[in-house]
Amino acid sequence: MHATITVLPGDGIGPEVTSIAVSLLKDIAARYGHSFTFNEAMFGGCAIDAYGDSFPPATVKACESANAVLLGAVGGPKWSDPTAKVRPEQGLLRLRSHFGLFANLRPVKAYPMLAGHAPLRAELLENVDILFIRELTGGIYFGPRQEQGDGDTAWDTMIYTVAEVERVAEVAFKAARMRRSYVLSVDKANVLASSRLWRRTINQVAERYPDVKVEHALVDAFAMQMIKTPSRYDVVVAENMFGDILTDESAVLSGSLGMLPSASLGTGKFGVYEPIHGSAPDIAGRGIANPTGTILSAAMLLRHSLGLEAEALALENAVQAALEAGARTGDIAEPGKPGLGSAEYAERVRAALAAVKIG
Ligand code: IPM
Ligand code: MN
Repeated sequence: MHATITVLPGDGIGPEVTSIAVSLLKDIAARYGHSFTFNEAMFGGCAIDAYGDSFPPATVKACESANAVLLGAVGGPKWSDPTAKVRPEQGLLRLRSHFGLFANLRPVKAYPMLAGHAPLRAELLENVDILFIRELTGGIYFGPRQEQGDGDTAWDTMIYTVAEVERVAEVAFKAARMRRSYVLSVDKANVLASSRLWRRTINQVAERYPDVKVEHALVDAFAMQMIKTPSRYDVVVAENMFGDILTDESAVLSGSLGMLPSASLGTGKFGVYEPIHGSAPDIAGRGIANPTGTILSAAMLLRHSLGLEAEALALENAVQAALEAGARTGDIAEPGKPGLGSAEYAERVRAALAAVKIG
């Protein structure tokens, strides 16, 4: 098949990790007889420097003409003044809303060979495999906000409509059917009206999926349960801000923030794929970043936007095989061992990919 992929390397370690994922996507294309066209565009802090806009019109166009977008990370100390008029994060929010990417899939797996890096006891991490589905274009991130003239009052508004909750709930229940048929919905229905609407709507959608078990948890209680009994959970669906907080917390289960991919999807095949880590300015340019989250995001791109399931699995299996064979970047290296640079680690994944059987 032919596909156009727009790459937004972004800031910090973004360019390092996206270039590795692109090189592996090129291997996939060569091996499976596909032709992928890659277009690069400016996004985030570097786009603010160049155009005064974190998501400039040329980048909007480059994304509109692509089948999918692969994104590195945005932001850094240079643009971190929270009072600045233009900020890299605004580009991210505009990208999500421009394309109606309301469902953010964040799969979290605990890798047994990395259990030593997680702050939890290894036995708690056995069989941890959670798919977080975070609502991404509604809630407090997009509700009316205001800072009052004299600066002593400010507010943000959490608004949800039934339609917004329904469509993300559908994604969650459909995903659960492909997994262990269990959806946990997280809210704060004991306090928030928007959460009561959320819970009611989840229950309405659940009636269409009688084969899927549904439960509800309050976000504060779940934040604790997720760490005490992480293997209990399968699909977890949450509104935008709760999902943001819980998925960073869940990263400790995998041993490193560098391991985790994400997909942001709307109603069609188009999606934006990015690792869940940030731009890591402290290690940028040193060639030591862990590219796994971006490589696994590229696998999600193959699966969800291009419909290439076998190719997605090949890439995921290659990562798994490289890890099993002991390939480790510094963040997941064994104590006292130096860890591979990003490029050496990528070569280990590439070799594992070459060894994956086609079929
Ligand atoms: C994320 C990030 C963003 C978010 C920020 C950078 C706006 O934390 O993708 O999780 O809060 O959604
Ligand atoms: Mn976040």
